Amino acid sequence: MTTTTEQQQDQSAAVYLPHPRLVSPEGGRAKPWVSSMAEYEALYKESIAEPEQFWTRMATETLTWDRPFRHVTHGSLKNGDVAWFPDGRLNVAYNCVDRWALADPDRVAFVYEADEPGKATRVTYKELQEQVCSLANVLAAFGLRKGETVAIYMPMIPEAAVAMLACARLGLVHTVVFAGFSSASLAERVADARARVVITADEGLRGGRPIRTKAIVDEALQSCPEVEHVLVFRRTGSEGVPFSAPRDVWWHEAVAAQRPYCPPVEVSAEDPLFLLYTSGSTGKPKGVVHTSGGYLLGAALTLKYVFDIHEGDVFCCTADIGWITGHSYVVYGPLALGATSVIFESVPTYPDASRYWRLVEEHRITQFYTAPTAIRALRRHGDDFVTRCDLSSLRVIGSVGEPINPDAWTWYSEVVGGGRCAVVDTYWQTETGSHVITPLPGATPAKPGSATFPFFGVELAILDPTSGAELEGNDVSGVLAIKRPWPSMARTIAGDHKRFLDTYLKPYPGYYFAGDGASRDADGYYWIRGRVDDVINVSGHRMSTAEVESALICHPAVAESAVVGAPDEVTGQSICAFVTLKDSYTATDALTAELVKEVRTRIGPIATPKTLILVDELPKTRSGKIIRRILRKVVAGEADQLGDLSTLSDQSILEVLVNKVTAAL
Ligand code: PRX
Repeated sequence: MTTTTEQQQDQSAAVYLPHPRLVSPEGGRAKPWVSSMAEYEALYKESIAEPEQFWTRMATETLTWDRPFRHVTHGSLKNGDVAWFPDGRLNVAYNCVDRWALADPDRVAFVYEADEPGKATRVTYKELQEQVCSLANVLAAFGLRKGETVAIYMPMIPEAAVAMLACARLGLVHTVVFAGFSSASLAERVADARARVVITADEGLRGGRPIRTKAIVDEALQSCPEVEHVLVFRRTGSEGVPFSAPRDVWWHEAVAAQRPYCPPVEVSAEDPLFLLYTSGSTGKPKGVVHTSGGYLLGAALTLKYVFDIHEGDVFCCTADIGWITGHSYVVYGPLALGATSVIFESVPTYPDASRYWRLVEEHRITQFYTAPTAIRALRRHGDDFVTRCDLSSLRVIGSVGEPINPDAWTWYSEVVGGGRCAVVDTYWQTETGSHVITPLPGATPAKPGSATFPFFGVELAILDPTSGAELEGNDVSGVLAIKRPWPSMARTIAGDHKRFLDTYLKPYPGYYFAGDGASRDADGYYWIRGRVDDVINVSGHRMSTAEVESALICHPAVAESAVVGAPDEVTGQSICAFVTLKDSYTATDALTAELVKEVRTRIGPIATPKTLILVDELPKTRSGKIIRRILRKVVAGEADQLGDLSTLSDQSILEVLVNKVTAAL
């Protein structure tokens, strides 16, 4: 099988110039914000050479400050004390909602495409302001005050965004937990964040199937006695949803009792806006902390330049609000620009594989943003599902979350984009807050599979993984690092600044270490090669191998487990688990299925191992350490390239291992 990396290298020569329709638009449409490489280079150069001047201009033009900042940056990557606009004060909800509600109340903030096809509704900025204010008053009435954390566990409905913005209005910190996570995962996050209030819905609905959202919250809260209130939005209105007053409060009843205006609470630019849990290389997820000023600026600016947002545009990002992409590009970025954002509750194949494309046609979407895994899956259904829809409104189509293989890129560009759109392959992470490597649609000649060049203010480096030396010039490969702070970077991990330093800033002192391998080709283009740590990327979702291993070990039959990522044509990588059993257990298909289920129940469906192989022994060093490198090679079909095996204590296990994997995959 050809790997993504090989395909990338083979095709790295193909270059797609920005389409003339984008660079010199007709029909009175505005020119792109950046319409040539020379313009990009000039702005980029300014952002690096004159950062104070550049960021002062951007932050002043883009955001409304209650108290203007006098200092632009503070601290360094070396010290881990980064702050941006530290003496500036603002309110995020005011910036995202009130500015537009006051100037243009009927402008549409959200188009809500419900799970049920044909049931789209709209929320204007004025309506959004009232909803956010009423809910903020409910939260204030619960006794919540600036700096406290609220957990949000909701389906993809506008009320999830309303909940985030209501927190921001009061200076509360939200932590949105993806509603596909299990009750145990939710409980772990609620407890770690010390949330006293959880906002949720009675049920979710995806592809016509109800999801028992509130029941999952109730299970989780059995181990979170500190939660005082659960605010429940009625999404489906099903009978029999568990509800226990006075802890549980219906959203519609609570907001009806509140005044639909609530003064925004002024916060420091450095006050936290949210925590978002993401997987790391240990079993415990980390609560990445983002701030109010720098984060909002990063989300707004990247959206403006990378998707070339102009007045009247309808932007659609299909990511769930439970991930950083949903935070930055469904909620904060679009609203900070006063744009219209589509909230998509359903799945791309419900009722059929045309759902996304009908959505584009119906709402005249101008920019569309999704993940390679969705692109690859939809491509398998055939071009008809796409071409039967009118996609002429599209100008920019984006990809995020994992490397996009050039053939999926080309299909996206040709079939979805009709050869008339810019494809932006955006590289970034939960921790970076917003795009860090990305093309600009009116300027950057694209190479399929490359995220191309750094965004403004992002100074990249490729480091030798062993020595940490910076590899100068082009045509180099190593690990990706960033050389200076940027406004939307995470500031810390909630309750564990040491872990923040150890994970990102200490591995290569003076640099932010991204955890990805990367190359800079002969033309200076960046190519992301995937994670270099124990994190795997399934359908653009980050999973820690240690987290899956911890779930497996909870089953009484499991003696040991090792989890690795296997290449997968649709999901990028899939989870492949190797398990040894305790002596009293026998390997059966039923037990294998039970172990898969164990992971699914403990973490959530996204962590389901695609392959689970019961083995007698795992490859180990003489000191008993599992050699995951061997397992990774075997599942990638590279058993002939195992490299140095001198540390392997028992070489005889290899043949059995290879045979088992071949039979299973
Ligand atoms: O490995 C990179 C991959 O996704 C990781 C970040 O995952 P997460 O924090 O969940 O955020 C996903 C959405 C931003 C990165 O370390 N990744 C993300 N975008 C790309 C990518 N890999 C290659 N190309 C991309 N465009």
